[in-house]
Amino acid sequence: MSEPVVLGLLGLGTIGGGVWQALAGQSDLLAERVGRAVVVGKALVRDLAKPHPGVPPDLLTTDPREVVGDPRIGIVVEVLGGEHPAYELVKQALLSGQHVVTANKELLAKHGAELFALARERGLELACEASVGGGIPIIAAIRKSLVANRVSRVRGIVNGTTNYILTEMVEKGRDFAAVLAEAQALGYAEPDPTNDVEGFDARYKLCVLSGLAFAAWPQPEDVPCQGITRLTAADLRFAGQFGYAVKLLATVRPLAGAVEAGVEPTLVPLTSPLAVVNGVFNAVQVQGDLVGDTLFYGRGAGPAPTTSAILGDVVAVARGERSPLPLAGTVVRAVPATATHYYLRLAPAEDARGLLHDAGLEILGHRAAGGAEAFLVRAAEPTAWPATQRRLSATGRLAATLPVAP
Ligand SMILES: NC(=O)c1ccc[n+]([C@@H]2O[C@H](COP(=O)([O-])OP(=O)(O)OC[C@H]3O[C@@H](n4cnc5c(N)ncnc54)[C@H](OP(=O)(O)O)[C@@H]3O)[C@@H](O)[C@H]2O)c1
Repeated sequence: MSEPVVLGLLGLGTIGGGVWQALAGQSDLLAERVGRAVVVGKALVRDLAKPHPGVPPDLLTTDPREVVGDPRIGIVVEVLGGEHPAYELVKQALLSGQHVVTANKELLAKHGAELFALARERGLELACEASVGGGIPIIAAIRKSLVANRVSRVRGIVNGTTNYILTEMVEKGRDFAAVLAEAQALGYAEPDPTNDVEGFDARYKLCVLSGLAFAAWPQPEDVPCQGITRLTAADLRFAGQFGYAVKLLATVRPLAGAVEAGVEPTLVPLTSPLAVVNGVFNAVQVQGDLVGDTLFYGRGAGPAPTTSAILGDVVAVARGERSPLPLAGTVVRAVPATATHYYLRLAPAEDARGLLHDAGLEILGHRAAGGAEAFLVRAAEPTAWPATQRRLSATGRLAATLPVAP
């Protein structure tokens, strides 16, 4: 066999440690599939004193220059997380002629347009299967298998923590705060869960999907985003009675010079395959003009599925495979999505129906229980919805509003 493929790891935490272990455990299989051994040349960490089981101490470094720019290292695997110093190091690796494999959705959401352009200009691969959907091969599908399609929409459940919380709220009939506390105790939610429960993690992933599917990179802070913190067990119960599941959906469609995009809890018909994606699982639907609707499903996080995606990228890059997408990408505006149907929860009152009629809404369903009233309504004029919502909010009776997925 010829010279080994030498990887440089930026980060050796949950995912970096998983990559290390899988490289050891699957070394024969990977060597056979690449045609050369795959080895780690150096791994960047912040704290040399932290335990890294099985990793020889001389492989560890706190100096990024021992990974980025070292001519022995052909592929840099970025698993640091966060924007900085990941951005500077990934950019420098590409400028130094190194291919990059990254799991970092925040980095790509904020700097994807620039980094993919740089990789393209230099004839290098910037591979990112692990950045969205953990082990689900959604990025390869968009970048390669579906490349002959004009993609008209990408939407999905891309955050396992919130999907687990929503599933538990339905199954146990408990409110958000109680389920979150339990999820934290079990290790399914971070001690600081803000990024997940406020929808920010899903928003980063939406930006990556948009950049790859449409060559259109919205800035994360421009994408409307609502998390799951204000949902109650009653909302999920009422939605079920109307024939829907509530899911934190990230949805993006291309427009001329912009994207219509948003992350928000959404009513999904119980007949939709997305409605039965439960627990920590993720699913992404891609709609293409040739292929029609496709659905990709699997484990959206965790060391083993994420490592599966990272090493899949490593093998492809080491074999000289190159992704046809993205072509030139640009930063674009994001505009909010409009819906025609909405779920509303109101504080109970005798004139609730009159209030909704006066707001120009057609009532399609009504349920009342436990001191709350829920309505399923159709807005005659979807573009007037923001004004309608403001008017209802001004009454002080509107407790929850959720769109219904088409
Ligand atoms: N966890 C998941 O299930 C999952 C799934 C998909 C994608 N991802 C993505 O994978 C990436 C890594 O996540 P993770 O969960 O493995 O994070 P993590 O456990 O916090 O590990 C981060 C690693 O990077 C090192 N590091 C961080 N900042 C550094 C700096 N400034 N200089 C040197 N080393 C630094 C840390 O070193 P020290 O330990 O010495 O501080 C640690 O080894 C993130 O982009 C994340 O979004 C994670």
